[in-house]
Amino acid sequence: KMPFQKQSSVLHKFKGILYSTMCSEELLNSLDFFNAREDDVFLVSYPKSGTHWVAEVIENIPNVSMSLTSPIELGDISKFEELNMYCKRRVIPTHLSYNMLPMNIKQKQCKIIYIVRNPKDTAVSLFHYYRDNPNLPGIETWAGFLELFLRGDVVYGSWFDHVLSWEEHKNDKNILIIFYEEMKRDLSKSIKKIINFLGINVSDSEINKITRKTSFSEMKNNAAKENCDPNHTICALTTNRNLVFRKGAVGDWINYFTSKQKRVFDELFTEKMKDSELARHFED
Ligand code: A3P
Repeated sequence: KMPFQKQSSVLHKFKGILYSTMCSEELLNSLDFFNAREDDVFLVSYPKSGTHWVAEVIENIPNVSMSLTSPIELGDISKFEELNMYCKRRVIPTHLSYNMLPMNIKQKQCKIIYIVRNPKDTAVSLFHYYRDNPNLPGIETWAGFLELFLRGDVVYGSWFDHVLSWEEHKNDKNILIIFYEEMKRDLSKSIKKIINFLGINVSDSEINKITRKTSFSEMKNNAAKENCDPNHTICALTTNRNLVFRKGAVGDWINYFTSKQKRVFDELFTEKMKDSELARHFED
């Protein structure tokens, strides 16, 4: 049962894609006026792909002068002034697709980390987020939600289109693609990849420390303490960190998809992702 009353209009459409009303139309319209800095780092993902996890890894890198900002698309037109105030190297999260990314970021070839997760697990995770998050519309059933997800009628649009928009740039030297499942399999290895990509030197013992600090249980426990700190907002869909750490598992989709739902999903996946190399990571 809903512990709160859902608002009726919590999303709005911009260029055919759904966004939270916390991302103003004015801001979405003005993204190309954003002033990127050459040393900016962008943390990009479709929602529920492990954004908070990678952000936590970056925040735990010792002795570097970096600061995590709130998402570039969150807020109103004063956003860019707010981002201008940061003195340190900025790490800027966003769920925008490649085509929506401010021009300046592309021109300056800022470093971009794109996080991607198995779409079935992403769908299940987003389903729970829709149910638990007062900033997202009410959802009746898993079956109903899955239809919306497959149609791309969810916040930030279709998973397929999002991933494909980024995959086109997977060989750009300023882009690093990180898989959620790889992080689960060997977190230290993924952390090393991220650190190398950012051009930072970190000792093995520090890497072990980061690995421990960014485990699911550690992060879930800490979320309770840091909860609702608006300065620690990584996803433009909530400031409540308690909503983020649910299960943190690979393959949880099996507990939700019926065999028919799996078939329908796989058919669309095969059709949409037929030319995608990246998608091969997610073939069963
Ligand atoms: P689940 O809902 O499947 O548990 P995002 O940060 O992009 O919103 O993604 C949230 C998802 O990442 C949630 O998935 C959350 O539990 C998972 N997650 C967050 N931190 C994690 C960690 N340290 N280890 C594993 N999964 C993590």
